[in-house]
Amino acid sequence: MDTLNSPRELAVWKAAHARCAFVPTMGNLHAGHVSLVDKARLTGLPVIASIFVNPLQFGAGEDFERYPRTFEQDCEQLKAAGCHAVFAPSVEDMYPQPQAYFVEPPELANELCGQYRPGHFRGMLTVVLKLFNMVQPAIAAFGKKDYQQLALIRGMTAQMNLPIEILAGETTRAEDGLALSSRNGYLSTLERKEAPRLYHCLKQIADALSSGRTDFEELETQALGTLYQHNWKVDYVSIRRPDLAPAINEGSAFVILGAAHLGNTRLIDNVEVPAIKAAAK
Ligand code: PAF
Repeated sequence: MDTLNSPRELAVWKAAHARCAFVPTMGNLHAGHVSLVDKARLTGLPVIASIFVNPLQFGAGEDFERYPRTFEQDCEQLKAAGCHAVFAPSVEDMYPQPQAYFVEPPELANELCGQYRPGHFRGMLTVVLKLFNMVQPAIAAFGKKDYQQLALIRGMTAQMNLPIEILAGETTRAEDGLALSSRNGYLSTLERKEAPRLYHCLKQIADALSSGRTDFEELETQALGTLYQHNWKVDYVSIRRPDLAPAINEGSAFVILGAAHLGNTRLIDNVEVPAIKAAAK
């Protein structure tokens, strides 16, 4: 695997690998990231991952400083997964001058996580666009665990006419249901035991919707109640349509999204509900 530590080294690699598949990450890799590399490898294109903890997408008081940086282990995992190259620029490489031009996201960026992390999606989309311009991949893979992020990246790619196919990877879960995330490492032993409850609350709503219930507010309120009872500080639990518009149509597909804090750790998760097929007559 080639290690590219600067945009210059990336440009040299790109000269020999014009068409490639790209897996952008912030490092501290886990099986979820590896599954994205696997997905990218299935395209048959050389696969390049990036590792860059992007200061632009962290707000004041968030975990930019303490975000785990585990470059050596990350490279071992990428190599074992058959990744062909890793691009690991410095903050100075990505932002040689203070960034003055940004991707202006749509209103969706102010909802759900955006309501609690102002500026997050603007910073995320800006770095993704910069990485896309540097790597110029034919294909890029992102996880569905960050459902809202994926929706915004898809929207940006389409509306900015970027010639990149976006692949979506399923969420990888621990045996008890907890979605794998770099932030899980912040959890204490007790918090780790409690953490799968977020997924199980969302799954309960999904099962209720699958059985035909459409009392969205009541279902959200029940989940909030359960999480509060177990000392979570909840940002939101929200039933939406797959494009993240409000859930109003009966019988359509849904996604249930949640974000909540356990102690000092903010966890997010979501569960998709496919469209309920009309009963055969
Ligand atoms: O999902 C992430 O790891 C980050 O938000 C991304 C897409 C690599 C941009 O920094």
